[in-house]
Amino acid sequence: MESTKVLRTFGDFFTERGHHQITGSTLRPEPGDPVLFTTSGMHPLTPYLDGRRRHPQRRLTNRQRCLRTTDLEEVGDRTHLTVFEMLGSWSLGDYSHEQSLRWGFELLTEGFGLDRLYVTVFGGNDELGPDLDSERVWHELGLSVERLVDDNWWSNGPTGPCGPDSEIFVWTGDTEPEGTPSTDSRWVEVWNHVHMRFHRYDDGLLRPVTPPNVDTGMGFERLLMLLQGVNSVYETDLFEPWTEHVNRLWHPDERSFRLLTDHLRSSIVVIGDGVRPSNTGQGYVLRRLIRRCLTTLYRLDPSYGLEELPVEVIEHTTGHFGQPDDPGSIRELLLDEERRFRRLIDRGRDRVLRLHQRGPLTETDFTFLHETHGLPREVVESVLPV
Ligand code: ALA
Repeated sequence: MESTKVLRTFGDFFTERGHHQITGSTLRPEPGDPVLFTTSGMHPLTPYLDGRRRHPQRRLTNRQRCLRTTDLEEVGDRTHLTVFEMLGSWSLGDYSHEQSLRWGFELLTEGFGLDRLYVTVFGGNDELGPDLDSERVWHELGLSVERLVDDNWWSNGPTGPCGPDSEIFVWTGDTEPEGTPSTDSRWVEVWNHVHMRFHRYDDGLLRPVTPPNVDTGMGFERLLMLLQGVNSVYETDLFEPWTEHVNRLWHPDERSFRLLTDHLRSSIVVIGDGVRPSNTGQGYVLRRLIRRCLTTLYRLDPSYGLEELPVEVIEHTTGHFGQPDDPGSIRELLLDEERRFRRLIDRGRDRVLRLHQRGPLTETDFTFLHETHGLPREVVESVLPV
């Protein structure tokens, strides 16, 4: 099933069940939001979920781009991306969480033809008992259930809307499972259904919300990976031009391929949403992403550079995310950042190598090189022998 069909199937399923399709926001939260980037589908809807604003519709669905830097070190495995899309559905005080679980099951099995599912539910802690209602529904639907605690409590921050959730996993192994979702990583999490029936206040207390809301988010690229029967999100049709060009240009090993593809594609989307590289905030995250690519390229071969990246890859990405930016100007921005990085390397190479002759660099050396010579860690690491 191609990515366009997957999007249509998801949208149609919820539209037929009375959901109003809303347009996803950019990666940049509204002014005043303490969070740097949109991290989940519900993030832009927080004012409606916490009752500050009233939405004219009670049932919503959308496709939302998200950015998570908490997973940065996991990028390179088969399922984690820095910028990814979430397919979401919401009940704003309308239908029940049970209804959401049943629809989730129906769409995954009948709509998408997935058949090997496992679910995790909130197992209870000293604040709240186990989520027996969800567990009952899943058992009625014939699924195995694992109870977990921290993994099945969802909140978007220390305060605000939150609640127990059910995470749906799909089997991806060639042989029989050797465990549950928490013990066998071949169970891949694809969809989270949160029963947003609480609000956590500044005093730390949890109070029920009436009527409760439902918030769900499905990882689009993971769903594609499962439906297209491939081994990683990078092998889905969404990444076709990336696979072709990155491999042809730079012949990377698998991990470098994934890092280059993920970080470059993420950087393009972040720039397309109006962020510019800088040393603070959103701009710093962008600078780090670009520099991690440049470091990887430099280590593959110091003569490789972003100059070679065809503009059509940038165009494919901005087109997919519906961004108006001119691909040529995004390319210029990446090249500017690369020139800046190369100047730093030229300035620092000898100094770093001299220091390294004495032995592996210590934290004090990294701090010294940064504070005294303006050489950030990623620049230092890129010139060190592997
Ligand atoms: N807000 C939930 C999540 O991001 C659906 O997992």
